[in-house]
Parts: sequence; structure tokens; C-alpha cells
Amino acid sequence: MSNQKAPQDTCVLVTGGAGFIGSHTVVKLLEGGYQVVIVDDLSNASERVLDRIDRIVGEDASSRLSFYRADVNDREALDVIFDENPIDRVIHFAGFKAVGESVSKPIEYYSNNIGSTLTLVDVMRDHGCKSIVFSSSATVYGDPDALPLTEQSPKKPATNPYGWTKWMIEEILGSLHTADPAWNVVLLRYFNPIGAHPSGLMGEDPKGIPNNLLPYVAQVAVGRRDRVHVFGDDYDTPDGTGVRDYIHVMDLAAGHVAALAWMDGRTGVEVFNLGTGNGTSVLEIIEAFSAACGRELPYVIEPRRPGDVTANYADCAKARREMGWEAQFGIADMCRDSWTWQSHNPNGYEG
Ligand code: UD1
Repeated sequence: MSNQKAPQDTCVLVTGGAGFIGSHTVVKLLEGGYQVVIVDDLSNASERVLDRIDRIVGEDASSRLSFYRADVNDREALDVIFDENPIDRVIHFAGFKAVGESVSKPIEYYSNNIGSTLTLVDVMRDHGCKSIVFSSSATVYGDPDALPLTEQSPKKPATNPYGWTKWMIEEILGSLHTADPAWNVVLLRYFNPIGAHPSGLMGEDPKGIPNNLLPYVAQVAVGRRDRVHVFGDDYDTPDGTGVRDYIHVMDLAAGHVAALAWMDGRTGVEVFNLGTGNGTSVLEIIEAFSAACGRELPYVIEPRRPGDVTANYADCAKARREMGWEAQFGIADMCRDSWTWQSHNPNGYEG
């Protein structure tokens, strides 16, 4: 088809490309030969990640990367980026992502996440770019009726404004395609991304007290926090603690590259789960991380955290069948790489 392009001729705009999943995806894109433009306002990311990307991919590949420090809500800045670069496709990661904070700051979450997406797609349309991959989340499945979750599993009401923004942005992008069938939309529903680049040069660097399990466990391992707080041991699961489908961030990054190749020359709206298909409990994670760092990590059982589901894990058959993508790494790899990152960078990028 006429719009099929080789990676070296394809320019990808990555919003939030300095963040955790974005930065790992940028590495994979550069290694895959793509031209990459990052737009990130660095509100929850460090500029130092750019040097790390350069070190990982080397001079040749990093010459295909450009960076703009800007807010995706800033229409003028986006216009400049589209004027200066021949952008073919967009991967949209940028957004606020702290579940608890979203409950106390709904206006900020709705206006930032949804507002910036509307600005982005409007600017894309003005520049004739109608190809977008969106960072969605398994959170749209809510409390599941049946496991594993397939792409046909129903969307359920979200339990917080963050979850609603993912839910609604999926609908908004679907409406774009209804109005103009030339749009090419891929919704990637991530399960629980953890791990780090195996070099130890890039990883997750949350500001303040981590909300998510893995960064918290990693900070206990490195001595920044005393013990892990396990939120509930009375769930209907084998050991009573919550079960999730943890996926290595490098696998997730590879899933985006697979999605770009898959969408080439197509139009439509397609949903893919990106997970491993395996469920792991909180206690199993603590055990795996203890093995990775070589010491028993202390933990204490606390009450359940409001809004948490008992268990979720993905059916990944569709991504395998359609895109030829499948997760390669297991929990031990994820904990090993996360530990390498955390132990080399105890205070993250600023350390
Ligand atoms: C959370 C969000 C989800 C978001 C994802 C991003 C909720 C309800 N969901 O997923 O919308 O897309 O992060 O990665 O917050 N746990 C502990 N102790 C901790 C932290 C977590 O025991 O200090 C437990 C939780 O109860 C859960 C599991 O660990 O069983 C995973 O929690 P977390 O890493 O926060 O991810 P999710 O809640 O699955």
C-alpha cells in the first residue's frame, strides 16, 4: 500500500518519551531504525534520561533522536514540532498517572490527560497525521468477571479519575475514527509494567513515595524505606494477596514497535492487551525481589487498599496472532533488572 514505510523513513513523535515506559520505547524505536521526536515537559521525568538513551543506543542511532521540552497541552509548541518534523505516527504516553492523587485532583487529571489528548489529535489532524498508538491500561477492565482478560472483556466503570481518563481517551480516539475512517488508532492496554533496561542505565524513578508495588519494593531493597506494606492478605487468591500480570518494560517497549509495524498501511481502531498471561501475587513478588537482591525483604500486612481488584491477568493471544509479539521475560528477569537499576542509581536519575 502507498502509505507503507520502512522504519528509517518513518518519523515517530513520542509524547512523554522521557518517562518510564516512554524512554524504554524510544530505545527500542531507535534500535529498530526509526526517526524519533520526543515531546516531554519533564514534569515527572528527568532530562538525564536523554544522556542515558544516547549511551545505550550509541551515536549513530541517537543522531535520529530529537527532544522538545514542551507540554502536550501547548498547541503552539506542538504546531512547531509538526512543522519542523515530518511526523508520520504518534505514540501518546504523556499524562498524569498517580491513582491516589487523581482522586484528590480530578480537575487537574481530567484537564491534563484529556485536554492534552484533544490538543494533540487536533494538531495531528491539522498536519494530516492520523496514526496514533495510545497508552491505555488494564484499569479499563475494572473488577473482572472472568480471567484471563481478553480484548472482548467488557470495560467496567473506573474507580478513580486516572482510570476514567484512560477509559474516556479510548472512546475519544474511537470517535475520531467513526468521524473520519482515515484514522489509524491502536489502543494498547498495559498490565503492570515493571523492570528496567538490563544495562542499569534506565528505569523507573517515581517522585516521592511510590504508589506502585515494584518501585516501593526496590526502595526497600536499597534501604530507602523500612519495609514493604502488603495491602491485604485476605483476597480470594492462593496466598491471599493481590495477583497481577507484571510485564517487563522492555517487552512492553517491544510491543509498541510491533504495533507500529502492524498498523502500517491500515486504518481502524484496534485494541491489544500487553501482558504476559501470568498472574503473580504480592508475596511472590517480594520473594522474587529478595532472591534478586540477595536478602529477605521485610514486609508487614496492612488492610486492603480501596479500589484494588483481587486479581487480573491478560489473555495475550491476539497480540501474538496479529502482531507476532509475545513477552520474553519472566518475574526473575524483571526483578533482576529492576534491582540492577535501583542499586546503581539508589536515588534514581538525580542520585
Ligand atoms: C495501579 C493502578 C492502575 C495503573 C497502574 C500503573 C490502582 C487501583 N490501579 O495498578 O490503574 O494503571 O497502577 O502501573 O491503583 N501493593 C501492595 N503494596 C504497595 C503497593 C501495591 O501490597 O505498596 C499491591 C496492590 O494491592 C496490588 C499489587 O500490589 O495487589 C499491585 O499494585 P500496583 O503496583 O499499585 O498496581 P495496580 O494497583 O495493579
